[in-house]
Formats: sequence, C-alpha cells, structure tokens
Amino acid sequence: MKISREPELPRETGPTSSSALSWTYVLDDAVLLEGRMAPVYPLGVNVVLARVDGAVYAVSGKCAHMACPLFSGRLEGHTITCGCHDWRFDVRTGRFLDAPELGLTVYPTKLEAGKLFVNLG
Ligand code: FES
Repeated sequence: MKISREPELPRETGPTSSSALSWTYVLDDAVLLEGRMAPVYPLGVNVVLARVDGAVYAVSGKCAHMACPLFSGRLEGHTITCGCHDWRFDVRTGRFLDAPELGLTVYPTKLEAGKLFVNLG
C-alpha cells in the first residue's frame, strides 16, 4: 500500500523566525571599552563584540577552527587571535587571516540612544 504525504513546508518557529531576526539590543555602549571584546547572546546566538578605533564590530563568538570562545582570545588592532590554537581573524570581515576562504559570520551593529544593537538577519 502506497502512502502519500503532503510535502512538509518549512515553518518559522521560536526565536529564529524572520520577525525576530532584526535589531536586537545586546549591551550598553559605555560598557564596551576601546580595544576590548565582550561576549553577548542576542536571541541565544553566541556573538563577540569588539571596539576598535571607536567602531563596534560583531562576529560569531565561536572560533571557526574548533569553536573555542573568541572573547577569551586577544584583540590587537582589528585582529582577534583565538586563545586555543592562535587562529587569527579580521574583526571587520570575519576572515581567517591565513586562509581567507574560511571565516566567521559578521553581523551589522548599530548604536542608538547609548545602546548597542546587533542584527542577526
Ligand atoms: S579553536 Fe580557535 S584556533 Fe583552534
């Protein structure tokens, strides 16, 4: 006997629905000091913020190598060096400096009324 099914259509549920993928408050601007990084978790996503020359950047908080937390690494100029095995990434582009085809997800940021927002969209 043949059983036919309607194809399942993708459904939007939970915190990843498209309506939720917009600007999300992550941190007060004054908390992120120049040359420092901070881990944030907008909608449960692991993101690391970095402030360089006054600009705020947001990239995936998990290293592209073995997912170590990047906020525990070093920030020197625009370069984040992972604390586990020294992979280096450009915080502006997310690119792995030794193999630019690899990299981190980069998220747009904005400052509004003293608060920092990240867009996961
Ligand atoms: S986990 Fe980051 S370099 Fe290995």
